[in-house]
Amino acid sequence: MNPKPSLVILTGAGISAESGIKTFRSGDGLWENHRVEDVATPEGFIRNPGMVQRFYNERRRQLSEVSPNAAHYALVELERAWPGSFLLVTQNVDDLHDRAGTHSLLHMHGELKKVRCLSCNVAIPWEKDVLQDSPCPTCNKKGKLRPHIVWFGEVPFGMDEIAYALQNCDYFAAIGTSGHVYPAAGFVQWVGKNCRTYEINLEPSIVNSAFSESIQGIATQTVPTWVKEILSKNKQ
Ligand code: APR
Repeated sequence: MNPKPSLVILTGAGISAESGIKTFRSGDGLWENHRVEDVATPEGFIRNPGMVQRFYNERRRQLSEVSPNAAHYALVELERAWPGSFLLVTQNVDDLHDRAGTHSLLHMHGELKKVRCLSCNVAIPWEKDVLQDSPCPTCNKKGKLRPHIVWFGEVPFGMDEIAYALQNCDYFAAIGTSGHVYPAAGFVQWVGKNCRTYEINLEPSIVNSAFSESIQGIATQTVPTWVKEILSKNKQ
C-alpha cells in the first residue's frame, strides 16, 4: 500500500445544501428563480449587466446568513490527517470550504467573494455589492467589474493542476454533484487505472456507474462516516 497516498476530492452544490444554499437542479430548472442562461452566461451579462450584478450581489449577501456544515468540517479533518497529497476541487462558488478551513482548495468555477476587472483582468476579493459604476481597486476604471464566476461557455480555472492531480491520485471522491456539467462530470474518467473512486451523493448521479463505490445519503452524515473509514485505511 502507498505510504503517502494522494487524494483528490470534487465537491458540488450538494455539500452546501444542508447549509441552506440551493442546489442548481433540484426542481423547477431555475436557479433562485432565474434561468441559468440569463445569469450564468457571458451573453446574459452583456444583455443585462445590471440584473446579473444584482443576482450575484444577492448570492454574495446570502453567504453571511449561512455557515459550513459537518461535511465541510469532516473534509478539513481529512486534509489535516491525510498522510499524502490532498486537493479539494470545488464547483461551488460559495466560501464554505474556505471558512471551514480547507487549505488545498481550488475553486474551478470561481468565487462569489471575488470580482474581475474587464479592463485590467485582475481578480479582486470583494465582500460588498457591485454597483454599475463601482471602480476597480486596481486600475480605478469604473463600471468594468464582473463576477469572478465561470459562466457556461467559459473555461474553468486550474484545469492543468486538476488534470495532473487526477492522473496521479490513489483515491478520487465526488461529493454532492449531479454529474450534469463537464469537465467536472468527466473527472472520474481521468484517473489512473489503480485509483479507487467514490461517489458520495443524495442519489446516484448520471455518471454513478463510472465509480468503484457509491455511498448514498445526506452529506452531513455520509461524509463524516466516509472520512473516518478512509482515514482508518490510510493511518499515518
Ligand atoms: N447531501 C448530498 N447530496 C445532495 C444533498 C445533500 N444534502 N442535497 C442535494 N444533493 C445532491 C443532488 O442529488 C444532486 O445530485 O447534490 C447534487 C447537486 O447537483 P446540482 O444541483 O446539479 O449541482 P452541481 O452538480 O454542483 O452543478 C454543477 O452546474 O450550474 C452549474 O456551475 C454550476 O457548479 C455548478 C455546476
